[in-house]
Amino acid sequence: IPVDPFDLVIFGGTGDLAQRKILPGLFRRFRAGQMGGDARVIGAARSDMDADAYRDFARKAVMEFEPEAAKDTEHLDSFLQQLDYVTIDARGNAGWSELTGMLRDDEIRAFYFSVAPSLFGDLADRLHKHGLDCPNCRIVVEKPFGRDLQTAKALNATIAEYFDEQQIYRIDHYLGKETVQNLMAIRFGNTLFEPLWNSQYVDHIQITVAEEVGVGGRGDYYDRSGAMRDMMQNHIMQLLCLIAMEPPAKFDPDAVRDEKLKVIRALDPVAPEDAVRGQYEGTGQSGSYRNEVGNRDSTTESFVALRATISNWRWAGTPFYLRTGKRLRERASEIAVVFKDAPHSIFGADAGRHRNILTIKLQPNEGIELGVTIKEPGPGGMRLVDVPLDMTFAEALGPEEADFPDAYERLIMDVIRGNQTLFMRGDEVEAAWAWIDPIIALWEESDRPPLTYATGSSGPDDALMLMHRDGRRWREIRA
Ligand code: BG6
Repeated sequence: IPVDPFDLVIFGGTGDLAQRKILPGLFRRFRAGQMGGDARVIGAARSDMDADAYRDFARKAVMEFEPEAAKDTEHLDSFLQQLDYVTIDARGNAGWSELTGMLRDDEIRAFYFSVAPSLFGDLADRLHKHGLDCPNCRIVVEKPFGRDLQTAKALNATIAEYFDEQQIYRIDHYLGKETVQNLMAIRFGNTLFEPLWNSQYVDHIQITVAEEVGVGGRGDYYDRSGAMRDMMQNHIMQLLCLIAMEPPAKFDPDAVRDEKLKVIRALDPVAPEDAVRGQYEGTGQSGSYRNEVGNRDSTTESFVALRATISNWRWAGTPFYLRTGKRLRERASEIAVVFKDAPHSIFGADAGRHRNILTIKLQPNEGIELGVTIKEPGPGGMRLVDVPLDMTFAEALGPEEADFPDAYERLIMDVIRGNQTLFMRGDEVEAAWAWIDPIIALWEESDRPPLTYATGSSGPDDALMLMHRDGRRWREIRA
């Protein structure tokens, strides 16, 4: 079903995100019939180019990042006809009246701030000055949303001068991932799991977002951020919220976000020994973090592991182990809900230790797996074995149904539909920083640099100890 006609302005329209995600994603939605022939996309940036040059730029972007879809040249040509471009100065007056002339009065209007956060205020200001901040318009803002509580508050305040919270869409692309939404379906669409979803039955929960890539060409940004700001404060905390929250009364934006916020506010401060940070070090051909970012003395972490606890009735006593890092052994991200042991084994010590684990796999192969214990087949007596009840989506639903939209395309369509459920509210972002800030402050005060870990490993040994100390262990990082 096509969404209503819209004008989408991408500030930073020639940037990396527009090239890799936004333009290719819009093309996929166009092909799927969701972005109709009356929708318009306007690139806005400093570069001096005209609409045709921008269409060329977009064609190349689609060809590079959606090569399969790009073979459909008929659709691609029509899509490109709906693109326009304006050279604009975010801090000056150039281009603004031209942009005003391009926008239609009666259609949905969205402004995507795909620029450095230092420009958010200028853009909001200009939009207002030129009368473009109509009640029907939305703004989309990218991370990083601040670098600590103070800067996040300042950003929220700047934007709030001209836009209501209902008009602000703070993107966390993890919320647009198929399995992440499935997490809510699994929890609140089934009766099977929710009665067990608490500290009485759940021993602990592990969240791993492991990347095989290093910092690549983003060394400058990354070295000022680190894994804590880049991944933990946003993506991983959002996953934690969805796993831990109470059932919202309705699937509506504020009902869901209220519950997420309560989780963040119930998080206990992290003890120093419960936060481990690491930095990768390569041997031979493979790069070291410090070389990659070109900063020989960098103490920025490319890995972090935390032991988090939530002080509420549901979760008191169940720890959450969170970890993320770059240059780990594989790209593998999952949430594992590890249930408690059976209270008493009637099969004796020989039967060994068996546990039910519900694994929600985010990538690379999205799916859900429930580990159950059964009898090992054969005449060997009552020997137990764990087998997975596997629901890899591509297998369960067929490859076509499993050809999910990318997180960005889904989220952009949600902006047009006016659905904020999968976007972060201002208070949520601030609460997340309030929890993260003291951990970073501890590291900044300490004279101990991050621990090193070998490129291609599972992170520093201390991260393993974080769980061993509790008599538990991390699941293997495996795709
Ligand atoms: C981004 C981070 O938000 O998420 C990157 O800035 C990271 O450092 C990326 O690589 C991971 O996203 P995905 O969707 O590939 O898991």
